[in-house]
Amino acid sequence: MERQQWGNRGAFVLAAIGSAAGLGNIWRFPYIVYQNGGGAFLIPYFIAILTAGLPLLILEFSMGQKNQLGAPGAMASVKKKFGKIGWWTVLSAFIIVTYYAVIMGWSIVYLVDSFTGTWIDTGVQEYFYENVLQLSSGPGDLGGFSIPVLLGVILTWILIYFILRKGTESVGKVVWFTVLAPIGLLVVLIVRAVTLPGAMSGLNYFLQPDFSRLLDYHVWIDAYSQVFFTLSLGMGIMFAYASYQPKDSDITNNALITVLANTSISFMSGIAVFGTLGYMSVTQGVPISEVATSGIGLAFEVFPTAIKLLPGGPAVVTTIGVIFFLTLLTLGIDSAFSLVESNITAFVDKFKWDKRKVTLWVIVVLGIVSLLFTTKGGLYWLDIIDHYINNYGLVLGGILEAIVIGWYYYPEKLRSYVNSVSEYRIGKWWNTMIKYIVPIILTIFLIYNFIGDITKPYGDYALRYQWLGGWGMLIALLIVVTLLNKIGNRNIIEVTNTDQALEEN
Ligand code: PHE
Repeated sequence: MERQQWGNRGAFVLAAIGSAAGLGNIWRFPYIVYQNGGGAFLIPYFIAILTAGLPLLILEFSMGQKNQLGAPGAMASVKKKFGKIGWWTVLSAFIIVTYYAVIMGWSIVYLVDSFTGTWIDTGVQEYFYENVLQLSSGPGDLGGFSIPVLLGVILTWILIYFILRKGTESVGKVVWFTVLAPIGLLVVLIVRAVTLPGAMSGLNYFLQPDFSRLLDYHVWIDAYSQVFFTLSLGMGIMFAYASYQPKDSDITNNALITVLANTSISFMSGIAVFGTLGYMSVTQGVPISEVATSGIGLAFEVFPTAIKLLPGGPAVVTTIGVIFFLTLLTLGIDSAFSLVESNITAFVDKFKWDKRKVTLWVIVVLGIVSLLFTTKGGLYWLDIIDHYINNYGLVLGGILEAIVIGWYYYPEKLRSYVNSVSEYRIGKWWNTMIKYIVPIILTIFLIYNFIGDITKPYGDYALRYQWLGGWGMLIALLIVVTLLNKIGNRNIIEVTNTDQALEEN
């Protein structure tokens, strides 16, 4: 069967931007900038983009597009055993989306309850931990399902299924909405925020440069990890999306647009978040350091609390509440379905099964696994698994991709392919990044995390949970990866050989 293709270039670029722009832009980026020297953080951030983010994005786009295969097939085309690296990235995506979808589920619950006023009338903390999560005493106590979360998650999976059902055809349409809507919604949040008293002091905290922070290596580690995560690298996603591009499509330009759009969305989020936090700190008379936070706490506790303080009565609170949770949902959903698509593409490439059926089954299996996070102890597991998969899954994938291309495939070959199809040509610096800089920096990051985790187990969870949700989970992934790469690889090799034969002719 002929491979699907994007209907037009816009669809591909928007899908890539949609994957990149997600929860990380709104709940991680602003806080990381604030914490790491404000405006001064732009220096490490852009250096990280130039030395690691953009080079790897170009690598992933070009490997997917050139081979017309997702990550496992594209990596196996270099050498069969490297298919494992592709599977590792795909399975990391598998794990991540099982809980990313649950966070989407919470957002749906909040969205619905913006209309009923539930979180507006109750204390936000009480609402989040008691009404929504119904949080149990610890990871050992799953305590049955939280029904609101369960319903939200089921709805999320149904949504994702309908978006992915017709592959590039349906995704190509949906991304116009899921990329443009959050941008529009962020504009509304920004306008509301910056016209509030205290907003400017909030923005000052966000961006005021403190150059002395640049001497702290933690700042640099944060810059690299943020760039890596925000561009959805090391997950097989950009391979999969690019594999549906015609072989002669521009690469460099698309990568640049993706990076620029994603960075812009991050800054817009920063302004909306810190403008609002500034107002909150002024009205409550507490220092910004007490309200500034990141992650789940920002999205589901602090920001809703700030919204409740807005002037203008219940109608304003409801409206801004709806807008905020719609922003979370539309920003996040295209990241979520890109993670699913990474899996679908990999399985269809490998087993040549019908794509529609694979889509359904991948989502059913993901849905079942995600049930763990809809239990009352789900938040603990989410926290543990997220930590390990982020620090080891993605990063290891990125290192190995760069090493394989840098040392076994030769970056020069890929660079000349990229340059033969792209408007902007990339120079030899790209080879250096792929061969040396990316692997070295990411390895430092990996070792740093590893030392951190063995000297102080993450989040003070008992060792058995670190093993179950962390190390054990990673080892299990490794086993599955090896199995997947062993069985029936003939298809892929054949595809690549004809592919090379075609090129040689
Ligand atoms: N890039 C997305 C974000 O910043 C998250 C993501 C990471 C999505 C990895 C897919 C893969 O939120």
